[in-house]
Amino acid sequence: MNKNIAILAGDGIGPEVTAEAVKALDAVAETFGHQFQYSEALIGAAAIDATGNPFPEATEESCKSADAILFGAIGDPKYDNDPNAKVRPEQGLLKMRKNLGLFANVRPVSSYDALLPISPLKEHIIKGTDFVVFRELTGGIYFGEPRGRSEDGNTAFDSCVYSKNEIERISHLAFKAAQSRRKKLTLVDKANVLATSRLWRETVKELSKQYPEVELDFMFVDNAAMKIIQNPKDFDVVLTENMFGDIITDEASVISGSLGLLPSASLGTKSSLFEPIHGSYPQAAGKGVANPLGAILSAAMLLEYAFDLKEESQIIKDAVAKSLEAGFATEDIQKENPKSTKEVGDFVVEQIKKLVTVNA
Ligand code: IPM
Ligand code: MN
Repeated sequence: MNKNIAILAGDGIGPEVTAEAVKALDAVAETFGHQFQYSEALIGAAAIDATGNPFPEATEESCKSADAILFGAIGDPKYDNDPNAKVRPEQGLLKMRKNLGLFANVRPVSSYDALLPISPLKEHIIKGTDFVVFRELTGGIYFGEPRGRSEDGNTAFDSCVYSKNEIERISHLAFKAAQSRRKKLTLVDKANVLATSRLWRETVKELSKQYPEVELDFMFVDNAAMKIIQNPKDFDVVLTENMFGDIITDEASVISGSLGLLPSASLGTKSSLFEPIHGSYPQAAGKGVANPLGAILSAAMLLEYAFDLKEESQIIKDAVAKSLEAGFATEDIQKENPKSTKEVGDFVVEQIKKLVTVNA
């Protein structure tokens, strides 16, 4: 298979973790006889510094002409406390999601046996957790208009807006995922308060008639936040709007063992993009301590979702599990004698090559 992948490493630890994900992709290409070509493009603070624009046109072109996009992280503290900053790196990420039509963000959450002992949650509660969150990504309060400040500056407002069509397209994907899993779909909303949530319920209920074998239930987001760590094994597919999905997936990462482990796929009409759910972790940038496994697992999702290479994708996931079993992990997971970003990436590459030999 011959494919072009756009690499948007971004800010902070983005470039370091993305480099390890590319190594894993190269190991797969080499062992399975695929050709992957990479084209690098600027996004976020790095793009603002170079061009004044957090998502430059050249980057958009590069994304549109690629077969898939691998993305690192975005954000730089120099913009966080600057009230005069006219553009923020995060705007690049949001513009990219919007312009590329990446409406469905898929975030799988599972526990790793090797990491059960380091979790702040009890082993018997989290062992065997396996659910996936479908987070709507191009609507809701992240994008709704009007938004901004009153003229006197004393009032600020954001709008949460959803159309039926926006709800339907991601819901179809979530129902289909449930069909091929344990056939349970939970819609997480705040329908006791929000009009948009009531539209979500109504729309999803209507759609569920097309998926009679999928059991549908509804949960308020505050209750879901509790249930996710109290009874994570009860969940199979979780469907939710943009901001709720953002919040509950950071929470859910505690089940896996580290925020640095969670990958995601952002699926759209024209493109698909793969990124770890963590941020740019600026304090760690350049130190070689960042966990590359979320990025490496995002590369595994890329192979599965964008190229339909299921076996190759599984090999990367198995290689990651092996590195965790071997205690070969960065400091977020391995407190004593932690490994560096690059050492973990090298170990995963070695495991990929070994697994391919065993399976051959
Ligand atoms: C994420 C991030 C982004 C989001 C930020 C950086 C804008 O937290 O991808 O989860 O809120 O969507
Ligand atoms: Mn987030």
